[in-house]
Amino acid sequence: MRVLVTGAAGFIGSTTAEALLGRGHDVVGIDSFTDYYDPARKRRNAEASVAAGVRFVEGDLLTLPLDDLLADVEVVIHLAGQPGVRASWGESFDEYLQLNVHTTQRLLEASRRADITRFVYASSSSVYGQADSYPTDESMLPRPFSPYGVTKLAGEHLVSLYRENYGLPTVSFRFFTVYGPRQRPDMAFSRFFASAIAGAPVTVYGDGTQIRDFTFVGDVADALLRVSAHDGPLPPVMNLAGGSSVTVLEVLDTIAAITGRRVDIEHLPTVNGDVFRTGGVAHLARETLGWTPRTALANGLRAQFDWIVEASSTR
Ligand code: NAD
Ligand code: UGA
Repeated sequence: MRVLVTGAAGFIGSTTAEALLGRGHDVVGIDSFTDYYDPARKRRNAEASVAAGVRFVEGDLLTLPLDDLLADVEVVIHLAGQPGVRASWGESFDEYLQLNVHTTQRLLEASRRADITRFVYASSSSVYGQADSYPTDESMLPRPFSPYGVTKLAGEHLVSLYRENYGLPTVSFRFFTVYGPRQRPDMAFSRFFASAIAGAPVTVYGDGTQIRDFTFVGDVADALLRVSAHDGPLPPVMNLAGGSSVTVLEVLDTIAAITGRRVDIEHLPTVNGDVFRTGGVAHLARETLGWTPRTALANGLRAQFDWIVEASSTR
């Protein structure tokens, strides 16, 4: 099967592209190497994928000739976008709109003209906002709490519109805070490990009792493999939640144990847009795709630490 992965040089995209290749798929990756974080990191991800056999197209989804790129493609996995909850206020909102909404609309237009068997969209637990009850399931009314969440929900709605109006076989996965090897450097675990290794204090927003349903990147890639091979009908939206709802303070205890370092904490004020809690049920993904999260948080954190150590020794 030929699979097009957008955002293929990023954290989740590069992991997914290599996993698809490992299953014998023909993988084409697209990425524009945005400078939200060090593009050199993305270049290293892309080089590893190309060495493994992924064909790579460098370019922006806003301007690339998508009709040509979609010829002969069966599955589109749309992971490109502007991530990050806390950075989405103020002037940067324009970037979020362009990279999360406009790119998605352009890709959907090209996909409805092509012969696509599945269009997969990377939505986010951020669409739930501060929910009234937990765990959140897909039938709850989304009420984003950050500008980022608004753009991810707009993208999700667009995807559903093309499903309803044009019969495009779409599915949107709501990923819950993803971690593991190649995690983005702006995300909590990357920052916590970097500080612990450097012997510097970690910065915790608020008192550290906020809860996240952390999801291992290998488990996310597994869901994307399953959906690529699935040919029956699917619900429009499904949670991908790791099943490990823990507090930031509990994570720091595990990081101290893994690194063997004392972790000192510097508390900073809560940041606007950060919800107090995420936690999702993933019953739809289990029933339709047989997917369950398999990686316990301590094992996934160990894998992320091992990758950090290995990556720093090869640079
Ligand atoms: P990432 O920044 O590592 O990857 C995104 C990639 O998309 C980057 O390499 C970037 O250069 C590329 N890109 C952005 N705009 C582009 C464009 N117009 N054309 C081509 N390439 C473009 O982020 P990630 O953490 O791997 O997230 C991947 C997707 O999953 C994003 O859509 C994000 O919103 C979503 N998501 C991530 C998480 C998480 O916890 N990491 C959770 C929920 C949803
Ligand atoms: C993550 C991703 O960054 C988003 O792209 C994604 O859409 C979102 O998950 C999601 O699941 O929808 P976030 O939950 O903020 O967002 O992930 P982290 O950056 O790993 O933060 C986790 C928690 O740690 C947050 O409560 C945050 O406030 C806290 N944190 C983060 C700190 O206390 N200190 C830090 O230095 C960084």
